[in-house]
Formats: sequence, structure tokens, C-alpha cells
Amino acid sequence: MSYELEACPSRLFELHSVSQQYVRGNATLCALDTIDFTLDHGDTCAIVGASGSGKSTLLNILGLLERPIRGSARFVGNDIVAASANDLAAWRNRHIGFIFQAFNLLPRLSALDNVALPLAYRNVRRKSARALALAQLQAVGLADRAEHRPADLSGGQRQRVAIARALVGQPSLILADEPTGNLDPCCANEILELFLALNREQGATLVMVTHDANLAARFERKVEVAQGRVYERVGHVAV
Ligand SMILES: Nc1ncnc2c1ncn2[C@@H]1O[C@H](COP(=O)(O)OP(=O)(O)OP(=O)(O)O)[C@@H](O)[C@H]1O
Ligand SMILES: [Mg+2]
Repeated sequence: MSYELEACPSRLFELHSVSQQYVRGNATLCALDTIDFTLDHGDTCAIVGASGSGKSTLLNILGLLERPIRGSARFVGNDIVAASANDLAAWRNRHIGFIFQAFNLLPRLSALDNVALPLAYRNVRRKSARALALAQLQAVGLADRAEHRPADLSGGQRQRVAIARALVGQPSLILADEPTGNLDPCCANEILELFLALNREQGATLVMVTHDANLAARFERKVEVAQGRVYERVGHVAV
């Protein structure tokens, strides 16, 4: 199977009757309960909902990090339930930029090398990878912290490194789990403008979990997750 996905007129993502469960000891917890969700190329979609409702679980499935235990899930027509772990990893690296709620930076690497990492996995030469990584750090206002390790950065700065790492490979799908949660309002707005510009100018699809109603209002679609179910909302949403 090719990792270059065909430019495809069909849906970017299609989830049908998808459920996700986690087993803890004797208890089974249903994190997503028989949901339908679709994403078209170029959508901007805010995901809102209470803590523990299933937002990150949904994002992990869209990010090809988890396979649902029930239902069908297709990424540009490819069945992700049946796909191999290698295929999922390659599609993820090539097409998806994921900003984790907990950043997931590698502590031993500098900010610059953390940002360059996805390019190393694509076999981009080190010198070019570092140049692209520096440009991306500049775009999030952190070029002067390139050689710092994560431990020597503030929470908001770590978050911006994680954002730069997600964007450096020019992903067509950007998935962001509360990417601006640790940022001051001005910086959060700048990051949002950066995402929206990538949508406008390069057609990137955006899905972002947020607790901020003002940020959610800037997205075309608002999807609420409540107790493992998803609801498409229109207009203003209370978050
Ligand atoms: N790996 C896991 N093992 C067991 N339970 C899990 C796991 N991941 C999530 N859960 C549970 O699934 C439910 C949904 O979790 P999820 O992380 O998707 O919520 P969330 O909406 O992202 O919450 P928050 O806003 O606090 O980040 C929660 O009850 C959570 O405890
Ligand atoms: Mg979460």
C-alpha cells in the first residue's frame, strides 16, 4: 500500500457506529458509544465537552493512534481497523500533525531536535530538517529557545514546541488536543490564527479540542462530546 494517499474526492474520515472501551481490572469503561462522525477535506471543527466525555479518545482515533473496538473507521477510504500498525504509523507521519494534551516532547532532545524529529522519520537530511524546524519554531515565536531542552522551557513554551513539531511536516490533517490551554490569550490567538491560515492557504483540515468558547466560535463546525456520544452543534456553543 502506498503512503502517498491519493487526492481523493471522498471523505477524509468516516466513522460509523464506532465504540471505544477501556478495561481497568474487572471494569469496562465505554469512552465512545456507537458514534458516527465524518470529516471532509478542509473542514475546521472544534470539539467541546466536559472532562472525561471522550474528546481525547475521539482525537486518538482520528490520529490513527487507537483502533476502535467496534464499528468501521476509514481514513481517505482506507480501513484503519484492518490496517497494519506500520501503515498507520506511516500515514500518521506523512499526513497528520498531532498536538497532544500532555505535549509528549522527548526530554533529552533540544526544542529544535524535537521539532525536527518527524522529518528524521521521513529520512529528510539532518541539515535540511534542522533548517525547517528552526523556521517552524520561528513561526510559533520560539526561535531564540531552539537549543533549550523541554525541562528548561515554561509550560506555554513547551506547548509551542509541540505545535511546531506537529506542523513541521506540513500535515494535511491537524489534530490538536487543547493546544492553547497553557498559553496566555494573546499567544493562544496567534496560534489559532496560524492554524486558520494553514486551513485557508493550504487547505489543511483542522480539528481542535478546546474549552474556550471564543476559540470554538472561529471554527465552521462545533461538535460536542457528552458521555461518549457526539452531537453536531450549530452557532454558539457553551463550553
Ligand atoms: N487508556 C485508558 N485507560 C482507561 N480509561 C481511559 C483511558 N483513556 C481514557 N479513559 C477513560 O475514558 C473516558 C474518556 O476519556 P478522554 O480522555 O477521552 O476524556 P476527555 O474528554 O479528553 O477529558 P479531558 O477534558 O479531561 O481531557 C474517561 O472516563 C477516561 O477516564
Ligand atoms: Mg482529553
